[in-house]
Amino acid sequence: MADVEVLDDAAVLIDGERIGWVGARKSAPQADRVVEVSGVVFPGFVDCHTHGVFGAPRLDDHERRALGVDYKAIAAAGGGILQSVRDVRGRSEADLVTLTRARLTALTAAGATTIEVKSGYGLELEAELKQLRVIRKLAGELPATLIPTFLGAHEVPPEYRSKRAEYVKLVSEEMIPTVARESLARCCDVFCEPGVFSPAESRQILTAAARHGLAVKLHADELEGSGGAELAVELGALSADHLAGISDTGIRALGGSATVAVLLPATMIFLGKRGQAPARRLIDAGAAVALATDFNPGTSPTLSLPLVMAFGVSQLGLRHAEVVTAVTINAAAAVGMAADRGQIVPGGVADLVVAPLGDWREVAYWMGSNVVSAVWTAGSACPAHTAPIS
Ligand code: NIG
Ligand code: FE
Repeated sequence: MADVEVLDDAAVLIDGERIGWVGARKSAPQADRVVEVSGVVFPGFVDCHTHGVFGAPRLDDHERRALGVDYKAIAAAGGGILQSVRDVRGRSEADLVTLTRARLTALTAAGATTIEVKSGYGLELEAELKQLRVIRKLAGELPATLIPTFLGAHEVPPEYRSKRAEYVKLVSEEMIPTVARESLARCCDVFCEPGVFSPAESRQILTAAARHGLAVKLHADELEGSGGAELAVELGALSADHLAGISDTGIRALGGSATVAVLLPATMIFLGKRGQAPARRLIDAGAAVALATDFNPGTSPTLSLPLVMAFGVSQLGLRHAEVVTAVTINAAAAVGMAADRGQIVPGGVADLVVAPLGDWREVAYWMGSNVVSAVWTAGSACPAHTAPIS
């Protein structure tokens, strides 16, 4: 992961939507049009874990936590995810499109050219489909590539609290087949955590998802360990995400697998927690580590992957080169897109990020500042944005 290739005085040839050539500027082939860039050109960043479709921010949760109430206690008292669920159920699709458009545009302005977006604030068929339709509409309109993920098992909705097995059945036997039939998602995720979904329930849901052709991802061992990482490996998941509570067995399992360990340091910071996932131990064990924003209203309202990269260095103990790998090729692998995203190579999709910096390492240094001045997706420059995010 620390092995990134840095070219000085380089050129990239864009041929349609793809990269045609990359190398020393003095040997660059002739081009119809030349754009001069001073600074650093990165491969487009991949934000491989967001909960990007939601309504209002959760300011009360934020303040209650500041006053010492913890995330799970807030959730148990009807705040947390369920508050966003009430909001999304009651909101029009058009309203969600407007809000999500502005927020995803802001993520792209900070460098994210491929963005995974989860549902999971509906927790009933129609409201989950509504979120996925919002993603589909924006995928057709925004310059970034959006990867839709069905997360109907984000929480047990209140109306199923006394009959959770029925909810697991509803997700597995009704929601997943409908989502797959309408091609509304590429992946399926489950929040596998003590008090949310158990490993056995998660296995049941994700096995159904795989049967319907969806790739599998897992919120695993986010706050406490429950064998989520091991389950992700057992199921051949694209990724196991969060992992602050991963066990030694989980680390060994991920280290010997192709499942990407997606770490989300902004979440632990926003929750005011001291712990972070054991990034170095994962890498030493042989795991591929990716970083993402986890953009969501409850635990990570950040729209900046470069901020997450800065946390990767200061909170997870990663090197600058490792955080670049973690938001490019490894993050592409976490959404099944490593064949042509996350690198500047001939044949790759021409997703490029320009940062007017003297040294490429500064992308993970100017904590919280916008270090990105221009973004290209599929060979075209992205327009600047101004829409309000709230
Ligand atoms: O990734 N862990 C579950 N889901 C989100 C939080 C969602 C919320 O609080 O709204 C997460 O942290
Ligand atoms: Fe998440």
